Order: sequence, then C-alpha cells, then structure tokens
Amino acid sequence: MDLINNNKNLYIGIMSGTSLDGIDVVLTEINNSGIKVLKSYTHPLPETTRKEILSINQGQQTTLVKIGKINRDLGILYGEAVIELLKLVKRDNNSFSKDDIVAIGNHGTTVYHMPEEGFTIQLGDNNRVAAMTNINVVGDFRSRDIALGGQGAPLVPAFHKFILSDDTEKRIVLNIGGISNITLLIPNGDTLGFDTGPGNIVMDSWIQQIKNEAFDQDGQWAKSGTINVKLLDAMLNSTDYFIKSPPKSTGRELFNIGWLNKILLQDAFKEIKSEDVQATLLELTCKSIVEEIKKTNITFDRVLVCGGGAKNSMIIKRLSELLSPFNTKVSLTDDHGGVPTQDMEAAAFAWLAYRTINRKHGNLKEVTGASENTILGSIYLKN
Ligand SMILES: Nc1ncnc2c1ncn2[C@@H]1O[C@H](COP(=O)(O)OP(=O)(O)O)[C@@H](O)[C@H]1O
Ligand SMILES: [Mg+2]
Repeated sequence: MDLINNNKNLYIGIMSGTSLDGIDVVLTEINNSGIKVLKSYTHPLPETTRKEILSINQGQQTTLVKIGKINRDLGILYGEAVIELLKLVKRDNNSFSKDDIVAIGNHGTTVYHMPEEGFTIQLGDNNRVAAMTNINVVGDFRSRDIALGGQGAPLVPAFHKFILSDDTEKRIVLNIGGISNITLLIPNGDTLGFDTGPGNIVMDSWIQQIKNEAFDQDGQWAKSGTINVKLLDAMLNSTDYFIKSPPKSTGRELFNIGWLNKILLQDAFKEIKSEDVQATLLELTCKSIVEEIKKTNITFDRVLVCGGGAKNSMIIKRLSELLSPFNTKVSLTDDHGGVPTQDMEAAAFAWLAYRTINRKHGNLKEVTGASENTILGSIYLKN
C-alpha cells in the first residue's frame, strides 16, 4: 500500500492536551532531516464540550451515551479545526492543494489514561475527521505501545530527539502543558523521558474555582502570594507519583481539583489565603520538575521549555533560580530547532503520523517501557 502519492511531504498535526484550552493544529513539511511549520492555528473548544469532557475525565461514573456524544462532538471539532487551518493556508497560497497533504496525525482528547490497567482512551472520532476533510488520518497513537507493556506515554521524546538533540550539549526538553514532561537528550546516549507531574492543570483549576478565570496570566496571581512550605510538603507527600522511578506517566485522573481540595481540608490550611495556594502550586510544578532532573545525577547544559507554561514568566524565573546552582541554562525551544514553542506538541503528532505512514516506529521503548519500538496508530484512509 503506497500512501505517499505526492512528493510534498505535508502533514497536519492536531493536539488537544489535558489543559482543554483549545485545539492546536499545524501544517508542516517533513523530511528525514527536519520539520518546518508552515501554518498553525488554535481552534476554540466550546465551553459546553469542555465541561462535558471535565465531567468524565477525572475518574467519574459516566454512560456510554455520554462517551459516544463527546467522541462525536470532538471528531466534528477536529474536522472543523483542520478545515479552518486549510482556509488560512489557502489565503496565503493560492496554488496550495489539499491533495499535497499525506496525512493528519490526531492525538485525540485523553479522558482516561490507565497504562497499569493496560488501556488509555483518547476521544475524537477519526472517521469524522477523515469524512469531513477527505485526508488520511492517523489516530490512537498510544494503544500499541501499551499493548507492548509500555506506558503509551510520553510519545514526544522521539520528536524532541529528532529536532533538538545536540552533538555536545546535554539538553532537557521540558513541555509544560496541563501535565509536565521532560525528555533527556544526552549526546550519544539513550533518550529518556517521562511525566514529572502537574504543569498548569491544578493552577488552572484553582484560579477557575476561586476567580472564575481560565488561567493565571503570566503567573501574576501566584506572584502576589507566598509559598506555604507545609502545603508544598503535603502535596508532595499526597501521592507516591513524585518518588516513583520512570517510566511513568500521569494525568487528570490524579492531579485534579478534587486532589487539591482534599489536601486543603486539613486543619493546617484552614486559614490559608487563596493566592498562597496558587504560589505553592506554581512552586510544586517547578520543584517537582527540578527534583526529577536532580535525581538523574547528570549536569545538564540547558533546559529548553515549550508548551503553555513557557508563557508564564513566573515559572521560567523560578525554574532558572532552582537550576542556577547546577549552571543549567533555561531557554525556550523557539530559539532552537525551528518549531515555535506553542506548536511543538501538534508538530510532534504530525511527525508521528509521518513515522507511521513511512512504517517507522514512533515510540522509544527506553522511554515508555514497552518491550519493543513499534509503528503506532490506526489509519483512516481517504477516498
Ligand atoms: N500567558 C500565559 N500565562 C500563563 N499561563 C499560560 C499563558 N498561556 C498559556 N498558559 C498556560 O498554558 C496552558 C495551556 O498549555 P498547553 O501547552 O496548551 O497544554 P496542553 O497540552 O495541556 O493543552 C493554559 O491552560 C495555561 O495554564
Ligand atoms: Mg493546549
């Protein structure tokens, strides 16, 4: 089966992460030596859909009807996101043809990630996406790795290695989305990567609960508070996730508003100010990342940050402070590798589709713990 019937090597990536802040789509050009983002767009996620997803992705009871409807709605939204992206591309370039696109790589929306039970569920009907766009779609990237005993996550490290590894510098790529994940890139060494714990997820939920805002713009609310060391300790001790050795991955099943509210019920935190909680959550994000880096016993030259957290200057400042004793510089992925910080994850799924279509593995078994490197995903062919 030859799916690559054109020489343009264009791929689309769709990513909607745990933050549920929007659907990121990118059009990319990919070959063996690199990737170029030609256009990117964020499609809004309607509040009703967002609420529906939140009503099932924190371990709640649900019904098959509800799951079916969310799956359908997300499929339609992904299809619309691609159509909007293509309109923007067409506006820039009249000669552009949809037939030049080899495939769409669609991550889907994770509603339950349980690798220890042998499954992970991403919703968003890929048949809808294929039907609406008539472009080949690759989806369900994580299940094959889980079938081989892996965590099914993270999958971005192979992509990070492809675009950001360096011959001399020891680097970490740090993606701060809803959850934070790191990829350790050591010249001539194995690539490692895992989720360190929360990124923005609990900070977002807290500001939503207290101030009805979607997120803490530039960390300003956290900045107005003071870190509460007792609360930080209580958070760090609330789960064994922080002391677990990799491979490991996590999500909203563990780090959610219920998790925080339960800790805050303790007597010690009865009088705590809400901005101090936010300051402590930001510290938890930064501290849990840096502790994992320290545990490697490797001195890294540079941490390259991407994802929404890269836009929070309080996070960048605090990470720089915590890493300065090790002379590890903190910068953004924008300055290296050519993929804009906010497009990294969507570009990774365009690249993973490219890998699948070219019958190349997308996981790294040393990262996920799978028994082998494998081709990932299911393919939905265009007519
Ligand atoms: N200007 C900003 N200031 C602070 N936080 C921001 C800013 N922009 C984005 N974020 C944070 O980044 C999150 C989105 O990050 P993203 O990388 O898209 O995560 P995900 O992959 O989980 O969707 C938002 O929910 C918000 O918490
Ligand atoms: Mg996002």
